[in-house]
Amino acid sequence: MANTLALRLAGLVVLCMVVGAPIAQAAITCGQVTSNLGPCINYLKSGGVPAAACCNGIKSLQNSAKTTADRQTACKCLKTAASSISGINYSLAAGLPGKCGVSIPYKISPSTDCNTVK
Ligand SMILES: *[C@@H]1O[C@H](CO)[C@@H](O)[C@H](O)[C@H]1NC(C)=O
Repeated sequence: MANTLALRLAGLVVLCMVVGAPIAQAAITCGQVTSNLGPCINYLKSGGVPAAACCNGIKSLQNSAKTTADRQTACKCLKTAASSISGINYSLAAGLPGKCGVSIPYKISPSTDCNTVK
């Protein structure tokens, strides 16, 4: 009886691992990018010092973009998000990661070809 229960629990744990794994590894979504970038909008329009929340957002974005596919997705989302906000100064956008002390391997710019991001 106790054995059966233990076996069932073990089965459940394995099932959860199998089902849960793809969720844990889910690629970056545009929603994630936009919410990380939200606190940056003010800086992107008018410059000055980026908000701490903005830099933290950029850092966590970079930390979650582990694969080439993730980085390309993040790049595309950034471009889309940036182009949907009017009045963005792209020279400020390009300098933002540097201001936050983060290096991003591509420019946040409308002319960035995200398919070349590695
Ligand atoms: C964008 O920001 C740069 C650096 O602050 C500034 O020199 C430039 O005039 C700005 N461009 C626009 C269109 O506001």
